[in-house]
Amino acid sequence: MNKTILVTGGTGFIGSHTCVSLMNAGYAVIVLDNLCNSEISVIEQIGRICGPRPLFIEGDIRDAGLLDQLFSDHPVSAVLHFAGLKAVGESVGKPLAYYENNVGGTINLLKSMQKADVKTMVFSSSATVYGDPASVPITEDFPRSFTNPYGASKLMIEDILADLQQSEPGWKIARLRYFNPVGAHHSGYIGESPKGTPNNLMPFIAQAAAGLRNELSVFGDDYDTPDGTGIRDYIHVVDLANGHVAALKYLDQNQSLLTVNLGTGKGVSVLEMIKAFESTNGCKVPYRITARRPGDIAECWADTSLANELLEWHATHTLEDMCKDSWRWQTK
Ligand code: NAD
Ligand code: WQD
Repeated sequence: MNKTILVTGGTGFIGSHTCVSLMNAGYAVIVLDNLCNSEISVIEQIGRICGPRPLFIEGDIRDAGLLDQLFSDHPVSAVLHFAGLKAVGESVGKPLAYYENNVGGTINLLKSMQKADVKTMVFSSSATVYGDPASVPITEDFPRSFTNPYGASKLMIEDILADLQQSEPGWKIARLRYFNPVGAHHSGYIGESPKGTPNNLMPFIAQAAAGLRNELSVFGDDYDTPDGTGIRDYIHVVDLANGHVAALKYLDQNQSLLTVNLGTGKGVSVLEMIKAFESTNGCKVPYRITARRPGDIAECWADTSLANELLEWHATHTLEDMCKDSWRWQTK
């Protein structure tokens, strides 16, 4: 029988793509999402890509009764845990919401898993745990820090997971540190749908190119980088999704706490991204250089050798794929 995976936050951007990767790999999928940042229609769209749809349960990871019932009703073998709030700026104004949802919700989920003897979890951590790194590329043993409640919540959850794995035999936990996920499924059926004005670069570029925003503000051209703009490690969301399947397979064979970077290992500047988007899609991205965004760092990209080696996983999509798929999603 196919193994059943519970995907919290499975109607969200990364979760939905991971449902597709899981179903393509033969897993049965249950999605639990409270729809605070996604739409139920995503389930139908996943079905259009995969054939069958995942089972959808609308609910909150902070609802212990619901989780206990879910684990008693379904033979879940592992949890892929994406559910959480993710807006860095918002977290500064609403720290309690972030700690309650991300940290409180995760503890609640872990307690129900413990009761149900479901002891495998893959957790969505973030490159944000590296704070402002002293150098690049970043390896997993770099010191961790945070500058906002969102980052603090990820760091706390990483520590909770490590303590749990240490304290009790049987837990298999992966802490996947994502760099900058972009792009969309090549079918154009699922992608990133930020509510309101996008915070992140790629959806803003796509909306500016589509004429939905007057212009992109390029936050600073005076960083110590070759063209002065910020450099990040953008990773296609389908590569990221496939990394989760690789992590699940790894945990199946190993009793461990796995901590790995998921990125491409290449840095791309804001101006390079704008140029790549324009040339790939034959469109214009109106932009203006503005002041730096508070809290931004100059550069951040991953050393991915650990994930390459342990998971036998590599990002395969190019920058052009990321631009093409983001544009297809935007214009569909
Ligand atoms: P997203 O907002 O698109 O998806 C998160 C999903 O979780 C949403 O569908 C939302 O409705 C759901 N959710 C939130 N709180 C919930 C709760 N209490 N109970 C049930 N469902 C809840 O975000 P995403 O970009 O897909 O990110 C997924 C995960 O990856 C998050 O944990 C995020 O912090 C992490 N991450 C994201 C990025 C990024 O740039 N997108 C980078 C690094 C890490
Ligand atoms: C990328 C680059 C900006 C928007 C954030 C979170 C991080 C992680 C991923 C969750 C930077 C520049 C951006 C714009 C711009 N999320 N930019 N104009 O800041 O690297 O990471 O998302 O874990 O925690 O902090 O991503 O896409 O916002 O910015 O010039 O309108 O684009 O300055 O150099 P970031 P981003």
